[in-house]
Amino acid sequence: MNKYFSTQLIARVIPLCVALLPFNKVSAQNKTEDAKMDVFVSGLMKKMTLDEKIGQLNLVTIGAPTTGSVVNKGVEDKIKKGAIGGVFGIWGVDHTKEVQEAAVKNSRLHIPLIFGLDVIHGHRTIFPIPLGMSATWDLDLIKQSAHIAAKEATAEGLSWVFSPMVDIARDARWGRISEGAGEDPWYGGQVAKAMVQGYQGASLKNADAVMACVKHFALYGGAEAGREYNTVDMSRIKMYQDYLPPYKAAVDAGAGSFMSSFNTVDGVPATGNQWLLTDLLRKQWGFKGFVVSDYTAVNEMEAHGLGDLQMVSALALKAGLDMDMVGEGFLTTLKKSLIEKKITQFEIDQACRRVLEAKYKLGLFDNPYKSMDAAREKTDVMSEANLSAAREITKRSFVLLKNDNQTLPLKKTGSIALVGPLANNQRDMLGTWILAGEWQKSVSVMQGIKNVVGDGVTINYAKGSNITEDAEFIKRLNFGPGMVTVDPKPADELLKEAIDAANKSDVIVAVVGESQSMSGESSSRSDIDIPEPQKNMLKALSKLGKPMVVVLFNGRPLTLTWENEHASAILDVWAPGTEAGNAIADVLFGQYNPSGKITATFPRSVGQIPIYYNHKNTGRPYSSGPTKFKSNYLDISNDPLYPFGYGLSYTTFGYSDVKLSKTTLKGNEVLTATVTVTNTGKYAGEEVVQLYVGDPVASISRSVKELKNFKKINLQPGEAKEVSFSITPEQLKFYNSQLKYDWEPGKFVIEVGTNSSDTHSASVWWNK
Ligand code: BGC
Repeated sequence: MNKYFSTQLIARVIPLCVALLPFNKVSAQNKTEDAKMDVFVSGLMKKMTLDEKIGQLNLVTIGAPTTGSVVNKGVEDKIKKGAIGGVFGIWGVDHTKEVQEAAVKNSRLHIPLIFGLDVIHGHRTIFPIPLGMSATWDLDLIKQSAHIAAKEATAEGLSWVFSPMVDIARDARWGRISEGAGEDPWYGGQVAKAMVQGYQGASLKNADAVMACVKHFALYGGAEAGREYNTVDMSRIKMYQDYLPPYKAAVDAGAGSFMSSFNTVDGVPATGNQWLLTDLLRKQWGFKGFVVSDYTAVNEMEAHGLGDLQMVSALALKAGLDMDMVGEGFLTTLKKSLIEKKITQFEIDQACRRVLEAKYKLGLFDNPYKSMDAAREKTDVMSEANLSAAREITKRSFVLLKNDNQTLPLKKTGSIALVGPLANNQRDMLGTWILAGEWQKSVSVMQGIKNVVGDGVTINYAKGSNITEDAEFIKRLNFGPGMVTVDPKPADELLKEAIDAANKSDVIVAVVGESQSMSGESSSRSDIDIPEPQKNMLKALSKLGKPMVVVLFNGRPLTLTWENEHASAILDVWAPGTEAGNAIADVLFGQYNPSGKITATFPRSVGQIPIYYNHKNTGRPYSSGPTKFKSNYLDISNDPLYPFGYGLSYTTFGYSDVKLSKTTLKGNEVLTATVTVTNTGKYAGEEVVQLYVGDPVASISRSVKELKNFKKINLQPGEAKEVSFSITPEQLKFYNSQLKYDWEPGKFVIEVGTNSSDTHSASVWWNK
């Protein structure tokens, strides 16, 4: 080796070794921790009977929620016998402690239970529904919301949350689109990572850390026709490219557990799908945690047509499912299957080990009552700090969909007609999955406006209409008591009150949309308009010629073609959570300039669904307006009403052309794309600058563009900032027909803009 080379080598290798030192130290520490865990778990398992091992695989519910037709019986007795590994559906120190004591004091081996719950967008302090949270495009805030949820959940006896839901959804008919981060696989992955990190913190042993449970694995959001629990069938390329990335990102972020989904994947229910639960999740992605089924999903494989309970339970275990939620197929049949040699002892041991390891990682063997500290329950739940963080986060989730003639922000003087069934309403502020959240503690829009403007503004309130008057619909919405109540006043009278209020006022603020139970699980809708009585009210009010602001509550993209034409302004507030009214008033009266952008495309009509920005070009692409023999409709444009990434501000932003550092690149070179963004309006504001890349020539037909990065910037009026993105070949990779993940040389179109449809672009050639 010559001298020059060896000095170069030393110069490079030494810093590398130094840089790797802490990493080596951490990985050595992890190895020691893993070795200690192995010794502990193996020692414990040696003492366990077969029944006790199977017991660890049994997850039961004691309280709410019951989302299936079965609930568990004889729980106390089973806990004493060691026939239960975990419990969900209860919270609160007193209650969880009592149940934990039953396991720790009364069962033979004193193995603690794991306590889970659907903490989806906050525990007690409720944040916006996840679709709203994703509209913040602020990963730090998303992480912070998950951390606050973890802090509150661990103050109330819990160590495991059934979140994040990372299912990609391209169909607004599906009610659970509200529970995810929208349609984009890359952004979905970023949100998944932020949530997992927020929940789990630096160590699961921390007092305020909960184990995340990533759901629903996999492809649940691809249900045909957006109908809940329906069949999913898609190509492997589509899976890998568009639906699987967020689950993978969650594995990479260290998620401790996964939940299998209800649907089929390649014809086999996910819960019994070996390719999915073992080959993909564990072998390809290296997942080390445990997998729980969804609610009675093992039993539901009978209805899917995979055999009787014994057969499907064995199938699930063999596929790699470790814990059975509610249905007790594992508890009641695995022993028999073992005797009949339909499963092996190794398969039971493996599942049992994974569940015990989760408890070990959470520190439950050191302290089973770790999250059952009565003092923390008093200080850490719905604290001032949590509520004020929620208000900050909530106002950042709102999306300004329209604002003609700068109708918003409103003046803090004069009079407003505050109308609509959601205007003076606490019940519907929180949205789906709020088990421990109390709607009685949420701030109504009316109250929020009073808090923000005091007596400065005269409020003329009228309910104006019922949420809906469709008796059948109301019956389904009322799956919990009093979810939708109907005002006995005749519709005409309600409407007249709203018109009278409007006639007395300078501006109309109509608070309308979906009530709490209209979205979420088992809430598919074939018509995604604002319900008829509310729409009738808007139509009548729009004839008065006054400025009309629509404050829209929605758990999904709605079809708003009429509203977009007739309202002066539309502010989308999703289901905003505990601080709803305060955050809405902050934005309506200009204390905060809205900066949210939608993460799911809003269609013009339900007939355009599925609709998403990263679609294929087709062989006969649509250009502008329906034309015969093109890929379009006869009766409607292909364009959505609001594209992915869209959202306005009280100010305006101007974009320069895209400057590229090079136009021809080779191999691992890095490309820099830069734009100058200028605040051309009168208000300070935040803008989400989005980077998309198109790959027009490849070995397979690629999406027209894909989101690759974004930056959220803050600009004073008149201020300009350069925003640069580095692009590497890693970001050009995709799955080809052999499912090989790589990039192919050629032309790439680099687009930067304010939303997926409104971009500036430039092209590069990238050679290998
Ligand atoms: C849902 C899951 C949820 C589970 C437990 C199921 O019906 O699909 O998302 O975690 O119930 O409540």
